[in-house]
Amino acid sequence: MRGFAHRQRMQQQGARREDVMNRPMIAIINTWSDLSPCHAHFPQRVESVKKGILAAGGYPVELPAMSLGEVMVKPTTMLYRNFLAMEVEELLRSLPCDGVVILAGCDKTTPGTLMGAFSMDIPTLFVPAGPMLNDRYVKDGVSRSIGAGTHTRIFWDDYQAGKIDAAELQHLESRMTRAPGTCNTMGTASTMTGMVEALGLTLPGASSIPAMDSAHTRMATTCGERIVEMVWQDLKPSRVVTRGSFQNALAVQMALGGSTNAAVHVIAMAGRLGIELSLDDLDAMAQTVPVLANLFPSGDRLMEDFYYAGGLPALMKVIEPFLSTTELTVAGSTVAQNLSKAEVLDPDVIRPLDRPVSHAGALAVLKGNLAPNGAVIKPSAASEKLLKHRGPALVFDNQPEMLKAMADEALDCDENTVLVLRNAGPVGAPGMPEWGNLPIPAKLLKQGVRDMLRLSDARMSGTHYGTCVLHISPESAVGGPLALVRTGDMIDLDVAQRRLHLEVSAEELEARRAAWIPTSALPMRGFTRLYQQHVTQAHEGCDFDFLQGNSPTPEPVIF
Ligand code: FES
Repeated sequence: MRGFAHRQRMQQQGARREDVMNRPMIAIINTWSDLSPCHAHFPQRVESVKKGILAAGGYPVELPAMSLGEVMVKPTTMLYRNFLAMEVEELLRSLPCDGVVILAGCDKTTPGTLMGAFSMDIPTLFVPAGPMLNDRYVKDGVSRSIGAGTHTRIFWDDYQAGKIDAAELQHLESRMTRAPGTCNTMGTASTMTGMVEALGLTLPGASSIPAMDSAHTRMATTCGERIVEMVWQDLKPSRVVTRGSFQNALAVQMALGGSTNAAVHVIAMAGRLGIELSLDDLDAMAQTVPVLANLFPSGDRLMEDFYYAGGLPALMKVIEPFLSTTELTVAGSTVAQNLSKAEVLDPDVIRPLDRPVSHAGALAVLKGNLAPNGAVIKPSAASEKLLKHRGPALVFDNQPEMLKAMADEALDCDENTVLVLRNAGPVGAPGMPEWGNLPIPAKLLKQGVRDMLRLSDARMSGTHYGTCVLHISPESAVGGPLALVRTGDMIDLDVAQRRLHLEVSAEELEARRAAWIPTSALPMRGFTRLYQQHVTQAHEGCDFDFLQGNSPTPEPVIF
């Protein structure tokens, strides 16, 4: 009876009986919208995926999902990542789909869609959006690469400091993101799509293809063909993704000089498959694999250059000694087989192991009385002289107060001051926005200061740079020690020792805790209320407590 009704309804929209009979039904999850510019090409790519599915004997059905254009969504896309995961899981559970091709890439869309697909565990193939094209900026006769995100902050600081005028800023506004595709720096998007390729969930090399390259269109068609084969082979995420493939993803994150945001996403993704992964695993890998991809913000090149240099397969070839090469991939081949012909075509962009971009590492996990469960920093994008630093705290309880103070020419601070922002974590903000790259006070910008030690329970855009300690856990809003810091307290950071210490006695901290009054109130309604009630802390991946683990998804009752 159910099949009779389904076939009726498919014919209602013009499909013939033979189009759908005995063919795998393939969902195409599309995270496109008019406010997701990085995915502006997805309507065309969906057609390519459909072409491949039909050619291979499947039947494609497009399912639009929540569109999270990173720069457009307020207060932060992170507030919606878990809801996107829920949406994908429920779409795939409630609708008659045998496999899924996911089109995503702009920051949270990658972990969000895959977390949902992992929970559902049907054959899954990921089509990365691909990076946008490079651009160049000519000033005083010198031409240089400019990248989305990284240069946004650089040029904004220059404008604030009076080094460029409004006309030049307006010109830059129209030049810095010149084509559809994800940010062309090593931000969160390229970090996550690279890690997903290392997990074995894309076709080999897919994550590096620029969005506007015709190879991207061809890759999308091939994905359509391949997913149909995967359905017949029952090649599900739980058969492809293992702890070994997560270790491969971490190795790639470090070699790429990837975004600190990956720390929350990768732990949450592993959690959906019941795979144990912790900040200690990330720190261990960061101390093993150096930064080899010469890309902003750790280096000075862009994703298009990375593609010409051989792309992710070439980078993985260089770090092959650190990889688990027997892991299976969605291509049906192992990592070793996929890398057999990979080679580096430009060693300035993809460096050899003995000539890394940075000896400082892509990530360090800090512990101490200020972060009992951990905090992260990206040493390769920080100022070397600040990686060991001691200075007095200047504390802000919320972002508006902090932004107002930064514009105040009379603000009492100097370059040794440690800027501290709290109530910016998963529960406190809520949604753990990318506020962790606190702006430099205007008066210090004018003195030429471009970096200071900054601390928060927030995140930072992967495209940004600076000596920013992030993801402090537990966060201040739930009573973490960050809530107890006062302006003038001395803070001691030693990245080499992985130490973050507040120079206040345990007795004094206890007295402050006794007097501490929580500040965040529960919102009245909606996603935000559900989020605040159920989000876990940064070191746990910020997934919802009721979605962690790989308990089987119950089949809906049908009549
Ligand atoms: Fe979409 Fe950066 S804003 S990837």
